[in-house]
Amino acid sequence: MIGSVTIAVVGSGYVGLVAAVCFAEIGHNVICVDNDQRKVDALKGGDSLIHEEHLPELLNRYRNDRVTFTTDLGAATAAADAVFIAVGTPQSETGDADLSYVEAVACEIARHLDSYKVIVEKSTVPVYTNEWVRRTVERNGGNSTMFDVVSNPEFLREGTAVEDFLHPDRIVVGADTPRAAAVLQAIYKPLTDGSYYTSPNAIAGRLNQGDPSVLLLTSTKSAEIIKHASNAFLAMKISFINAVANLCEAADANVEQVAKGIGLDSRIGPKFLRPGIGYGGSCFPKDVAAFRNVADSLGVDFSLLTEVEKINAEQKRRFLRKVRAALWTLRGKRLGVLGLAFKGETDDVRESPAIDLIEMLIAEGCTICAYDPAGMDRSRVEMPETSSLTYAADAYAAADNADAILILTDWSEFSKLDLPRLKTLLRYPILLDGRNLYDPDEVAAKGLTYVSVGRPAAHPARA
Ligand code: UGA
Repeated sequence: MIGSVTIAVVGSGYVGLVAAVCFAEIGHNVICVDNDQRKVDALKGGDSLIHEEHLPELLNRYRNDRVTFTTDLGAATAAADAVFIAVGTPQSETGDADLSYVEAVACEIARHLDSYKVIVEKSTVPVYTNEWVRRTVERNGGNSTMFDVVSNPEFLREGTAVEDFLHPDRIVVGADTPRAAAVLQAIYKPLTDGSYYTSPNAIAGRLNQGDPSVLLLTSTKSAEIIKHASNAFLAMKISFINAVANLCEAADANVEQVAKGIGLDSRIGPKFLRPGIGYGGSCFPKDVAAFRNVADSLGVDFSLLTEVEKINAEQKRRFLRKVRAALWTLRGKRLGVLGLAFKGETDDVRESPAIDLIEMLIAEGCTICAYDPAGMDRSRVEMPETSSLTYAADAYAAADNADAILILTDWSEFSKLDLPRLKTLLRYPILLDGRNLYDPDEVAAKGLTYVSVGRPAAHPARA
């Protein structure tokens, strides 16, 4: 391993916290800064606060040792060689990214620049943010020879964040000076020279010593655009396959076969071609809107992104219509719902299509009994229990006495349900699957009517 770099990471959300423990894992000393004292106390005590594989293990390995936690951004900046800004950039009312947290952090960093530091944008930010951070630091007394601003976007996915960080498809570093680029190259060296993958207890994944990670050096602006363009492209892929799924329904074809057929073309690839009830989460909806606004503000027509958003919103309404078509009327119907998180294997319910659909179904007069393996605590905060919404202890309790059962999140647990048991619990044996987790004929063979996305409905044979 290389000599370690002292790194401050500001913000301990998904990106910040994962980056902090992973930087420690590759040999650096990390000061993790958050302005929420309760979060800092929880992290010091070993509570990782989010549901993420490997995170508890790494947090316990390094907390209060190679990773320390503090609310004191000034002291952390003074001690660090590189300060990573990983605070939230939520969507503002106009669809733009709200950069006020980034600005506040830049102001504070400016007051503690006592030696050369690299300020690194890790949060997802629009192009030109780099220049604004630089200007803000200078306006607040930062001497331009004492710092550089670098863009180092993060591409990790929730649920597999630690593995994605340590086994990345690529590391993008947008740096406009060789000095700043060198600091980032040193930080990521254990991943780019492959030495990390030979270390004892290394987190296993796609990469190894002979096939280490690629680091792409670009300009800062290009790096900022790479992040937005990547998320927008992936969202576009999902909307594309959802539109194809709708076409398959109209033509009585099977979208899973079509997705396989197009995904085998190596220029297209098989990933992110899973149709469903649309994309959600804290990134795609916000980033597509922000990227569209960036294009608008630069005078570029990128209305393709508006279509991506339109298809995504319509996908939920289409599923609602399927529920109605299966049950005739919705008022007074009791539905079991499996899934609250925006995707499987995470407890995150932000911008979850499942939550949107539950709200739409309740507005139509349905009563919902919902279950999610990890998302119920967070969901209870967003949607407390009412006479129209209760939470169940497991999938079968959600199905008990329901008029139909709905799958809205692709948890692997939901692809292995005991279907005959479900059938005995349901009032009507109807499974509406918004994530295509089953083979239609297999479900029908177990005695349930099965409605999914982009495939013909399957019905049990009449006795
Ligand atoms: C996404 C990107 O995949 C990451 O590369 C990126 O770093 C991250 O956003 C971010 O900007 O922070 P994430 O939001 O964790 O990661 O979730 P994804 O796995 O990308 O899924 C997003 C949504 O698309 C989910 O609702 C998922 O169910 C849906 N999806 C995904 C589909 O409907 N179909 C697919 O084929 C794939």
